[in-house]
Amino acid sequence: MLRELGTSGIKIHPLGMGTWAFGGGSYWGEQSQAEVNNICAAALERGVNFFDTAEVYNAGTSETSLGVALRGKRTQAVVASKIAPSNCGDIEGHLDASLRRLQTDYVDLYMLHWPVNPLALKHFGGEGDARLPQVSEIFDTLQRMVQKGKVRAIGVSNFGKTQLEEALATGCPVCINEIAYNIVSRAIEAEIAPLCLAKNISVVGSMALQQGLLAGAFAAPDDVPPPQAHSRHYQQSRGVGGGDPAQDSRHNEAGAEAEIFALLPELQRIAAEQGITTAQLSVAWVLQKPFIASTLAGCRTVAQLEENIAATEIALPQAVAAQIDALSLPVWQKLGDSADYYENRRDSRIF
Ligand SMILES: NC(=O)c1ccc[n+]([C@@H]2O[C@H](COP(=O)([O-])OP(=O)(O)OC[C@H]3O[C@@H](n4cnc5c(N)ncnc54)[C@H](OP(=O)(O)O)[C@@H]3O)[C@@H](O)[C@H]2O)c1
Repeated sequence: MLRELGTSGIKIHPLGMGTWAFGGGSYWGEQSQAEVNNICAAALERGVNFFDTAEVYNAGTSETSLGVALRGKRTQAVVASKIAPSNCGDIEGHLDASLRRLQTDYVDLYMLHWPVNPLALKHFGGEGDARLPQVSEIFDTLQRMVQKGKVRAIGVSNFGKTQLEEALATGCPVCINEIAYNIVSRAIEAEIAPLCLAKNISVVGSMALQQGLLAGAFAAPDDVPPPQAHSRHYQQSRGVGGGDPAQDSRHNEAGAEAEIFALLPELQRIAAEQGITTAQLSVAWVLQKPFIASTLAGCRTVAQLEENIAATEIALPQAVAAQIDALSLPVWQKLGDSADYYENRRDSRIF
């Protein structure tokens, strides 16, 4: 059941543990360390070995919390972290800080969180070195981190076709592209996923549940809290005032609320027909795509984790998957082929 990441030799479970909520913070609210410890222990017991964090998640406390939960269990886990593009002027310094927070001397996978371009830097801005390192310089440094034993394999996140081609041209083995993919975020199907398949770069989809939406958490757009509503799925005004101005909506687009909230009852109906939950249907739909190695879901409780693990064992009938493809097409058409779900399409950081 485990899937290899590119040709790295690293094997991961089809369900990846999203840890963005670990450590709490304004985006996700409180998350107790006791529950994080229980979730991580239960995950490892059930063979869910892949833990995805980043230096920017809750200003480092996601890494700290994960490090505590994996104490004494480190070798059973595949730990992935990511560096912010704005910090690429000092990759080793930022990697060392992540390792300290994670209480480990290596990460299995180290990813560039976003491509290094002026737009991405603007969003991550303020912190770190504003100098724009060359792509080749970044990937050379990452490879030196592998040689030093601090990193087992190198990956990217949120890379588009041109950006992937640039990265591959440096000669660096890139084993994974982690990027948003779910029933209402399908842009990567156009160009990015086919290129990854052709180049043997594993695609790990993030936000399997579109931050709770595809678990049926919200009956209407008004119910979605501002942090979760700051993506292009929603109209601009909903994603403002969540407590962290850096996470306010900035896309100035109309969103696809009508299409999404017409789709959700259909997903609920199909899930009921299949005898599964809407969250499970959403996870199972992602996993039946041939280009997907693993899908990340942020599990806040052991009960959610168990439900999501069970979803990895569901073989969705092809006709059902095709029906969901067709039903979700209007959302994809409305949001377009930009895989950046936060910036206006004109300003997409992914190309
Ligand atoms: N590389 C990147 O740029 C990037 C971007 C985004 C995310 N990620 C990664 O992907 C991971 C997953 O994304 P995400 O956490 O943002 O969103 P997500 O996985 O789509 O949604 C997580 C939320 O869904 C709810 N949930 C989970 N399982 C459920 C179930 N079985 N039933 C009902 N509700 C359920 C929980 O909501 P409640 O809080 O309401 O319980 C949870 O907070 C992140 O944690 C992060 O590691 C990476």
